[in-house]
Amino acid sequence: MSENREAPIGVFDSGVGGLTVAREIMRNLPSERIVYFGDTARVPYGSKSRESIIRFSRQIIHFLQEEHVKAIVVACNTASAYALDEVQKDLDIPIIGVVKPGAKVAVKATRNKRIGVIGTKGTIGSNIYADYIHEIDPEITVVGKACPLFVPLVEEGWLKDPVTVEVAERYLQELQEQDVDTLVMGCTHYPLLRSVLRELLGEKVTLVNPAYETAQSLKQLLKEMNLDNPGIKEEEFPYRFYVSDLADQFTAFANSILPYDVSMTKKIDIEKY
Ligand code: DGL
Repeated sequence: MSENREAPIGVFDSGVGGLTVAREIMRNLPSERIVYFGDTARVPYGSKSRESIIRFSRQIIHFLQEEHVKAIVVACNTASAYALDEVQKDLDIPIIGVVKPGAKVAVKATRNKRIGVIGTKGTIGSNIYADYIHEIDPEITVVGKACPLFVPLVEEGWLKDPVTVEVAERYLQELQEQDVDTLVMGCTHYPLLRSVLRELLGEKVTLVNPAYETAQSLKQLLKEMNLDNPGIKEEEFPYRFYVSDLADQFTAFANSILPYDVSMTKKIDIEKY
């Protein structure tokens, strides 16, 4: 196990979406270093098989271990759903996903015990949010809805476009009919659609962002394990970004959502791991 409190946290995702999770870690744990990996060559994960996602996740974890990370955050909901249980068996550093923290907060938030979950086909098909929610409270009704068009719309930058609003209306109709009072944005990209979702659902529905909850869980975990970094030098840029393809495109997206100037992303051959 890495005893080095100053070592970075490894964060990985299928691509750019996990930056919404990295962003929350940056905001809430400002004295931590981060090594981020986006699997841009093999995105999307949401429509791939469990076996593929487990294999991809193992390779990425191997890469992150070579970067001497002290802990790993699986920022991707689909990878958290399919691979987390499997990969944590052979790891000697802590690893957390985004699903459990999101589920926990949704249970706390609901008043009428009706929770909606939106995510990729993989995440919704795995039923993992419902499983975690029912572990805490079996009486809660969970309504899942896969929203596969949201990911390309966000990557196109159409965060408030009328087309996005119309797509969202169709996806959310069923959840509204089911009277959910809490909605888990169970995919890395969806927090970027928060204002469209808020507009359509109104103030009465609580929107849960698992990214924020994951950052809080990570903070607590690092503290409990004495792995929290006491601080970094002010002049240091503590974040490194790696991808498996299209580094420049990644850098441009990163600069559009992070409050930092990301000057470089490095491309690596993830199949070598
Ligand atoms: N990162 C994925 C997730 O959170 C969304 C994009 C994809 O399908 O790879 O499930």
